[in-house]
Amino acid sequence: MLSKPIPATGESLPVIGLGTYSVFDVDSTAEAIANSHEIVERLTSAGGSLLDTSPMYNRSEKVIGDVIAAGIERQDVFLATKVWTGGREAGIKQMSRSAELMRAEVIDLMQVHNLRDTAVHMQAIREWQDKGRIRYSGLTHYTAGAHEALAREMAEFRPQFIQINYSLGEREAENRVLPLAEELGIAVLINRPYQAGQLFRAVAGKELPEFAQEFADSWGQFFLKFIVSHPAVTCAIPATSKPHHMADNLGAGFGTMPDASMRERMADYFETL
Ligand SMILES: NC(=O)c1ccc[n+]([C@@H]2O[C@H](COP(=O)([O-])OP(=O)(O)OC[C@H]3O[C@@H](n4cnc5c(N)ncnc54)[C@H](OP(=O)(O)O)[C@@H]3O)[C@@H](O)[C@H]2O)c1
Repeated sequence: MLSKPIPATGESLPVIGLGTYSVFDVDSTAEAIANSHEIVERLTSAGGSLLDTSPMYNRSEKVIGDVIAAGIERQDVFLATKVWTGGREAGIKQMSRSAELMRAEVIDLMQVHNLRDTAVHMQAIREWQDKGRIRYSGLTHYTAGAHEALAREMAEFRPQFIQINYSLGEREAENRVLPLAEELGIAVLINRPYQAGQLFRAVAGKELPEFAQEFADSWGQFFLKFIVSHPAVTCAIPATSKPHHMADNLGAGFGTMPDASMRERMADYFETL
């Protein structure tokens, strides 16, 4: 799979990961864990690694721990979670609980969820990085209305990652956040790559345009290749509850990527829908 370097270290990260909001919020029944395991197995078998979760996603962190216990090798996954609470003590308690639930001695990426109490949590994250319990720091949001605040905090706190919304349906990140991430050397994860599924509804019943057929086998790959071919983007994290959708999404990490003029053509086409 195509990988891109994390600017802070040069470590390479495969461009397709997995979001787990709602889709991994399932009971720990054998059947549900087997399904989640199959999704992660497909991700890692194709060379992908990033799993994104949060304490906000109810049972998702526990399900990730169950999937690892069911045989996914810890070193094959890049675990990204978040701190989503107010205050230092509550944040530290939450980070400890995340590590316990995911059965991870070291968390690869700890992100401040929706910029909630950033200064307080970034200090604790840095302390955990010094102790070797967290590898990378990050900030997240999911709406264009927060891009200015995110940009200010990127400059002030210098996280190693940001996570933000970006897709053919929501291109605002191109204006400020993506160029700033490039300038400051910050890795970028993309959430809502399908606008929570809305993009598929926009193309329901439509064939892929002919010009796209040389680089995409499906609408999912069309949408994801638009994202991961942006020079500032490191990895997209589509969520899915279905192994065959994971396989489809993974296809976007392979083969020809659109260049700048093709990206414009894709955007122009999407606007006509
Ligand atoms: N503030 C934050 O930090 C924040 C906010 C929002 C999101 N996130 C992260 O970003 C992740 C992704 O965002 P999201 O979950 O909002 O939405 P999304 O990834 O844009 O869309 C998910 C939807 O797309 C469908 N889907 C996935 N692959 C598909 C395929 N190949 N073909 C057809 N349908 C497909 C899924 O349904 P199926 O289950 O049927 O596949 C699901 O309904 C989240 O899970 C979370 O990890 C973070």
